[in-house]
Amino acid sequence: MPISMDEIVSLCKRRGIIFQGSEIYNGLAGTFDYGPIGTELKQNVKRAWWRAMVYERSDVEGLDAAILMHPSVWIASGHVSNFSDPLSDCKDCKKRFRSDHVEEKDYQTFKIQTAKSPAGGGQPADADWHDAGFPIVADSKKAAKELARRKLGDESAPLKVEPVEGTTRRERRCPECGGELSAPRQFNMMFKTYVGPVEDQAEIVYLRPETAQGIFVNYENVRQSMRRKLPFGIAQTGKSFRNEITPRNFIFRTREFEQMEIEFFCKPGTDDTWFDYWVDARFNWYTRFGIKKENLRLREHAKEELAHYAKACKDVEYNFPIGWSELEGIANRTDFDLTQHMKHSGKDLLYFDEESKTKYIPYVIEPSAGADRSTLAFLVDAYREETVQDRKRVVLGLHYSLAPVKAAVFPLLANRSDIVEKAQALSLDLKKSFYTVYDDTAAIGKLYRRQDEIGTPFCITVDVDSLTDGKATVRERDSMKQERVPFEGIKEYIRTRLVAAENT
Ligand code: GAP
Repeated sequence: MPISMDEIVSLCKRRGIIFQGSEIYNGLAGTFDYGPIGTELKQNVKRAWWRAMVYERSDVEGLDAAILMHPSVWIASGHVSNFSDPLSDCKDCKKRFRSDHVEEKDYQTFKIQTAKSPAGGGQPADADWHDAGFPIVADSKKAAKELARRKLGDESAPLKVEPVEGTTRRERRCPECGGELSAPRQFNMMFKTYVGPVEDQAEIVYLRPETAQGIFVNYENVRQSMRRKLPFGIAQTGKSFRNEITPRNFIFRTREFEQMEIEFFCKPGTDDTWFDYWVDARFNWYTRFGIKKENLRLREHAKEELAHYAKACKDVEYNFPIGWSELEGIANRTDFDLTQHMKHSGKDLLYFDEESKTKYIPYVIEPSAGADRSTLAFLVDAYREETVQDRKRVVLGLHYSLAPVKAAVFPLLANRSDIVEKAQALSLDLKKSFYTVYDDTAAIGKLYRRQDEIGTPFCITVDVDSLTDGKATVRERDSMKQERVPFEGIKEYIRTRLVAAENT
C-alpha cells in the first residue's frame, strides 16, 4: 500500500523529521521546520547532490550568492513583470483562488424551495413549501442542492430545486461555495522588503524567488577567477521565497524552500545535446540515491506552457501521494538571462571563443531541483511496512548516504553500568566518524523499531558477552542480519559499507 500524505506528515512529526512552522502559534501557512532527524536528512540530500554535481565532475564550480540582490536583477530577469499569477476572490465566501486553476463549466440558476421537516417524518405538506429566499447558481441539480443546504445550515432540509430556463452560461465560479468570482488580478509572487531604515519605494529589495539569478550575475566572476572555458556549469543550493497563493501538500509547495540549481553555460548550437545530457543525468541521480524507476517519469512542456525565458523544458516527475507532480525542471534558457543582464548592467558578458575567434553569449541549460521536494520524494519512496514474526515493522529504507543517523548503539541491559559504559564509549568513538546516537530508554525491540522508522542502517547492541568476548552485535536495517563484530573493527565495518553505498 503506498503511503498517504497524512501518514508521512504524522511520521515526520512523531520522529522529529518535519514540524509545521511556528506550530505553537497555530502555524504559519506555507512554512515548515525541519527537526533533528529531518535536518540531517535534508542536509544529506543536498550533500548527495553537491557531491554528484560538483565534486564528481570536472566541469562544474560551486557558488553561494546572497539572497538579497540588486533590484535591477529582477527587472532584467523578467520577474518584476512576469512572475505573477492571476487571482480571483469569491464575492460570497471571500476565499482566493488562482483564476487559471478554476475550471470553466456550464452553470445554471436554480430556484430553491424549502420546508420544515414534519415532526413524524415523511414529506412536508404542499402548503408548507416556501421560497428559500435565494437562488443558487450551480453546474448540476445535485450541486445546487448541496450548496443550498450549506447556505441554509441544515444538512437534511427538505428541498425542491428547479432550473430556471434560459439561464445557462459558461463561466468560472468559486469551487468552494459556487459564488461569483471577481475578475482576475495579477499578483506578483516575490516577497518585498526594504534595505536601510526608511521604508521607501527606492529602498525596495526582493527575497530571491530562485537561486538561478545569483549564478547569472556571477557568471563572469566565476569564469575569470576559475579560468574556465565553455562548456562549464555553476552549482548553487540555497533558500528561495515565493508568496505562493495556495501553499499546500506539506513540503511540496511552501513559501520558503530550498533549491539545488545548476546553470550550465555552453556554445550556442550545442545546447540541444547538453539539454538531453542533463535530462538523463538528473533522472539518473534520483535512481542512484534509491528512488524506484517506476515512480519517476519525464514530462515535456508544451510550447504554451514554457516560461518566458525557455526554449524547451522537461520535468522529472515523481509519483507523490498527491499524484504525478514536478520534482525538478530541466530548461534550455538560451542566452536570455545573460543577454538581459548585459543590457541592464551595461557590463560585457560576451564570451570570446578562442577556437572560432568569435564572440557570443553562451546558451544555458538549467537543471533546477527542489531540496524539500526531493526530501519528500526520498521519504515517500523509502517508506515500507513489513510483517516480521507477526508484527508490523515500519522501515525507511533510505539509501545509506541519505540516512539521517548512520549508527545507533544500545546496551542490552540499561541497569548494568559495565555494559552501559562500554556502549557509551563505543558511541562516542563512532560519533567522531559519522552521526551516531546512543539510546537506552526502552527495551531492545522498541529501540530497533525507532531506528528502523528513521532509516538508521546499523544498530549495535552491547550485551553481557561483549564484556568477555570483546564483540558487539551489529544489525543491518534491511536484511535484519546480525553479526558479532569485535569492538575495534566496528567503525571500519560500518565505514566500509557506507562508502561502498556512496560509490554505487
Ligand atoms: N530557476 C528555475 C526555477 O526556479 P521552478 O520550476 O520554478 O524553476 C524549480 O522551480 C524547482 O524548485 C521545482 O521543480 C521544485 O522542486 C522547487 N520549487 C519551486 N517552487 C517551490 C515551492 N513553492 N515549494 C517547494 N519547492 C518549490
